[in-house]
Amino acid sequence: MSKKIKLHVCAEGKHCSKRDGGKILKALKRAVEEQGLEDVLKVKCEGCLGLCSTGPTVIVTPAGIQYGGIEQSDCAELVRVTAAGGEPIERLLARTIKKKKKKKD
Ligand code: FES
Repeated sequence: MSKKIKLHVCAEGKHCSKRDGGKILKALKRAVEEQGLEDVLKVKCEGCLGLCSTGPTVIVTPAGIQYGGIEQSDCAELVRVTAAGGEPIERLLARTIKKKKKKKD
């Protein structure tokens, strides 16, 4: 039995739900379908993942990659790169988003 890669999407957390987490969930599911990757990737709806300040948040397991500030336009790329086992998308990493926010403050 092969283990699927999971994309945990905070769609129900207090902060991410206000930042279109539900739309991101749908866009990721659509991207998985469009790319025919249902056997490889599973998109899961979650509550708060503890990264509220960088939401909407997506965590990839088992790799443990933490993405933040995801927009619908990022979803196809995120799915493609994740399924291919490529390097994490630097601009979408939660730590990158945090650094950008700090610079603004
Ligand atoms: S509300 Fe989404 S990570 Fe906390």
